[in-house]
Amino acid sequence: MNKRIGILTSGGDCPGLNAIIRAVVKCASLKGWEVYGIPYGTDGFLRLEQKQCSSDDLKLKEHGYDLPGILHGIDILQFLSGSILGSLSKGNPNDKAIAKTIIQGYQDLGLDALISVGGDGSLDIIYDLAQQGKWNIIAIPKTIDNDVPFTDRSIGFDTAVDKVTSALYDLTFTAASHDRTMIVQVMGRNAGHLPLRSGIAGGADIILIPELTPQIDTDLIHNICIHIAKLRCSGRKFALIVIAEGVKNLQGEKEKYIGDYLAEKIDQASHKLCLSDQPEFCDLEKIETRATVLGHIQRSGMPSSYDRLLAATFAKKAIDLIAEAKYDQLVVKQNGDVGSQPLEKVVTHIKQCHQKGFCPNPVNPDGFLVETARSLGIYLG
Ligand code: F6P
Repeated sequence: MNKRIGILTSGGDCPGLNAIIRAVVKCASLKGWEVYGIPYGTDGFLRLEQKQCSSDDLKLKEHGYDLPGILHGIDILQFLSGSILGSLSKGNPNDKAIAKTIIQGYQDLGLDALISVGGDGSLDIIYDLAQQGKWNIIAIPKTIDNDVPFTDRSIGFDTAVDKVTSALYDLTFTAASHDRTMIVQVMGRNAGHLPLRSGIAGGADIILIPELTPQIDTDLIHNICIHIAKLRCSGRKFALIVIAEGVKNLQGEKEKYIGDYLAEKIDQASHKLCLSDQPEFCDLEKIETRATVLGHIQRSGMPSSYDRLLAATFAKKAIDLIAEAKYDQLVVKQNGDVGSQPLEKVVTHIKQCHQKGFCPNPVNPDGFLVETARSLGIYLG
């Protein structure tokens, strides 16, 4: 049976969103289905109801958008970062009238199902709306933080790991030229997956993630200084520190620039150590630090082949689920296989974690990656 489906992207963007849109449109078109792209997350339904756009404007073509002739049919969408649909991280539409209009937008578009590509912040919002509006919904996880529960991977994470790893490579040589300690602040909100993986792959000497060092304290700073001094004695005159943005300051509060904060603390503590008669510090005035905030660079760039492949398989699974009329599912990757999990279970878990201020899918402190980092001599606090 012919179907009319919608697709939207919500929450922070990441590489691979366009690859999903492309793959959804391809799989659906081959079945003879129509696909409508909802602009700016659920806000698109509002815009539709407010007549800021028409349903015809939202219809996606086989390549996901109109190809300008000069591209000779090059299927460029899967290589582009961001989302051609636009995305919003606006929070829950608490206003009942707004929620009602959004719900009406789905009905007026005549959708049989909606594919929502989002992270842990937007999954619960869309699920609530879907429940209220009796929408047939399938969710696809995306986020560079990789903190969506019940899936080993979310779209965008792999590319972000590559980005940070490549930044660490670039910083290595300037750090080495000046015998400096480079501190790199990495995104991830309250999760440490991105800093941990990229730190190991990028040759970091110290990795600080919220799961292992929720907050900086004086012992930690002292130990970092000692670790760096020992590296110097062993011939490595510079150091790379990766710090997750979710690590808190000495007062247990979030800092916008936790990397700079740590740099200052290391400067001060190492200067004191240098004035003492610690042999490792005898040739130093202090450990010289520089901090870099990678920021939104981590959310851009051509999606890695892994993310493009993941996008293709997640899109195919979403279309399969719609064909089977198996709704209210989150497409997931678990133990190497693509499958799905009931959204109710996923969202309940996310809500419980958010209420308690926990990350819904943290790094396992006893897991093999942490063990690997320690085995390589990386200091983790
Ligand atoms: O959730 C993805 C993410 O990039 C986090 O890693 C980061 O803390 C946050 O979004 C930044 O959000 P914004 O783009 O709204 O500043």
